Amino acid sequence: NEDVYVLGIETSCDETAAAVVKNGKKILSNVVASQMESHRRFGGVVPEIASRHHVEQITLVIEEAMRQSGVSFADLDAVAVTAGPGLVGALLVGVNAAKALAFAHGLPLIGVHHIAGHIYANQLVAEMKFPLLALVVSGGHTELVYMEGHETFAVIGETRDDAAGEAYDKVARALGLPYPGGPHIDRLAHEGEPVIDLPRAWLEEGSYDFSFSGLKSAVLNALHNAKQRGEEIDVRQMAASFQESVVDVLVTKTVQAAKEYRVRQVLLAGGVAANHGLRAALQDKMKKELPNVELIIPPLSLCTDNAAMIAAAGTVLYQQGKRADLALNANPSLPL
Ligand code: KG4
Ligand code: ZN
Repeated sequence: NEDVYVLGIETSCDETAAAVVKNGKKILSNVVASQMESHRRFGGVVPEIASRHHVEQITLVIEEAMRQSGVSFADLDAVAVTAGPGLVGALLVGVNAAKALAFAHGLPLIGVHHIAGHIYANQLVAEMKFPLLALVVSGGHTELVYMEGHETFAVIGETRDDAAGEAYDKVARALGLPYPGGPHIDRLAHEGEPVIDLPRAWLEEGSYDFSFSGLKSAVLNALHNAKQRGEEIDVRQMAASFQESVVDVLVTKTVQAAKEYRVRQVLLAGGVAANHGLRAALQDKMKKELPNVELIIPPLSLCTDNAAMIAAAGTVLYQQGKRADLALNANPSLPL
């Protein structure tokens, strides 16, 4: 039973990240170079700019992660990298760096699904107990994932249009808030009251799918109509109302699915898991309705994109004997 050291690399969107994790659980280093500032003035991630930043940062970020970890390449057991989904030009930078390192140091190469990474961020703070349900909410994803065991993923619900984070960012933009808007709406929501009536898309009876585009449109329409009438809409009230609508649907469906699938744990993952309203509401409802089911919520730094989560997911694949080879390619629509 020897210790396993894995270098994780993540470049699927706008963070260049590298981390070294011991036994899939202990973070030895976790370096994230954010490009947020470069994308902000465009109101969203510009793929070409993202790729260029990754190229500029990747070597430095990996070197820094290795230096901080105190682990040498000779002591590493594998290199794990996000192979998809994400921006193809961005993914390619990480995949090529990982391939080069694996080849140069004779290390096994592991391809990791970005969402699996978000889920395995939980393994860095607690022991995963199966069966479990993970709510993955990020800028690109809104998924309810049922897991019977390690690295087996059944998507029981997903968004039919916008991802939760995407809805946050688009509504924030309409409210004149900077990119990414999620944290700003979250902050303002706590200063306002949810007094504006907004829709909730429950979809068909028993469906665990989500839809946020109707809600987004309702906010945009309300803003437009108010403007035409020459009225002011209170940004804090709108933020609070929008957040309540999103959180209500996310929490209700998650708790319902957790009951139906009789899970032992519920995990929260992805950038929107940083949302204070979502955390509090899920905690609250689970305490009341599922007191025997454990809820795990990673700290904020492990909810947003990072490479420690990729190393954690990659370690389990490594232990299962799963390997990629040097033909590994970035796949922008990689299935979970
Ligand atoms: O997981 P992530 O870092 O990147 C993706 O894989 O998409 O998630 C980024 C998303 C953005 O849409 C951002 O607005 C949202 O997470 N986000 C939040 C909060 N913090 C980040 N949304 C709501 N409330 C927050 N506190
Ligand atoms: Zn992500």
